[in-house]
Amino acid sequence: MLNDLIESLSSFKKEVEAAILGAETEKALEDIRVGYLGKKGKISGILKGVGALPHEDRPRLGEKANEIKRAVESTIKERAEALSSFARQEKLQSEAIDLTLPGRRVLKGSLHPVTTILKEISDAFLPLGFVVEEGPDIESDFYNFEALNIPKEHPAREMQDTFYLSEDMLLRTHTSPVQIRTMEKYDPPLRVLAPGTVYRCDSDITHTPMFHQVEGFVVDKGVTFAQLKWTLTSFVHAIFGQDVGIRLRPSFFPFTEPSAEVDIECVICGGEGCRVCKGTGWLEILGAGMIDPEVFKSVGYDPEIYSGFAFGMGVERIAMLKYGIKDLRLFFENDVRFLNQF
Ligand code: DAH
Repeated sequence: MLNDLIESLSSFKKEVEAAILGAETEKALEDIRVGYLGKKGKISGILKGVGALPHEDRPRLGEKANEIKRAVESTIKERAEALSSFARQEKLQSEAIDLTLPGRRVLKGSLHPVTTILKEISDAFLPLGFVVEEGPDIESDFYNFEALNIPKEHPAREMQDTFYLSEDMLLRTHTSPVQIRTMEKYDPPLRVLAPGTVYRCDSDITHTPMFHQVEGFVVDKGVTFAQLKWTLTSFVHAIFGQDVGIRLRPSFFPFTEPSAEVDIECVICGGEGCRVCKGTGWLEILGAGMIDPEVFKSVGYDPEIYSGFAFGMGVERIAMLKYGIKDLRLFFENDVRFLNQF
């Protein structure tokens, strides 16, 4: 009887040790521990037979059972250690870093061509004593049109051109309203450069609904058209080079009188005539003129005392001419292959 029990304990030991060595996870190991050593486990089952033994045999069985329990416990412990070191090993391997690999290159940014041209434009004017003023993108009808002597029937007020936000509010269609805001704020003399974003409901190869303009104006006693021409010539030379000629053509803007459209010698063909300048040898780059007395009246300046000139240009247009870019939309698609070239 005793021998039978001892025999079954021994074979139990072999069985449980095999199971332990086969356990692949810590959870499986714990299940084995509960299954064999727990209160309802197999070893307890075997020990239930102890009651049938004579008194003197009982200690021997108990001893044997404890011995096996300890042995099994220590096997479980060893296996647990092996499993955890194995797991650690695997983790280390999967997270291994090869320190000899070359690093990833940090991409180097570049200035957007519009930013570069904006900077070049201010670099041309600031040394002449111009200061920068800004106005809001959301404007009222008064600043964008009325105060600039743009009458109600003017085509620029059409829904097709202007993004209206309400009856009276709109996205500014040009930077000229900054003239009014600045003149309302300060007394002459003024020499102001006003760069900014403008909006028009228009989209094709040479138009985007949002683009940039730079407005410039000078107000003082005795400001002349000759000074306007000199200022623009020095600007063109700074941006396109000393040899580039300029010409002024009579034109019309409601807020200037007289008004002129300013052309530069074609930067592509040097004035010979090509596709870009449509054979004329000239490229239009900005509008300008002497500030209309009506504009002065709307800000309370006396046109008998003061005179001034103003000009306005499209920044993307200048960038397109300078860099030979044919499609305006490229500026706003943010394709790094395009942007990296500047
Ligand atoms: N505001 C005009 C436009 O958006 C550009 C312009 C023309 C501005 C003549 C001026 C100017 O200051 O004198 O088309």
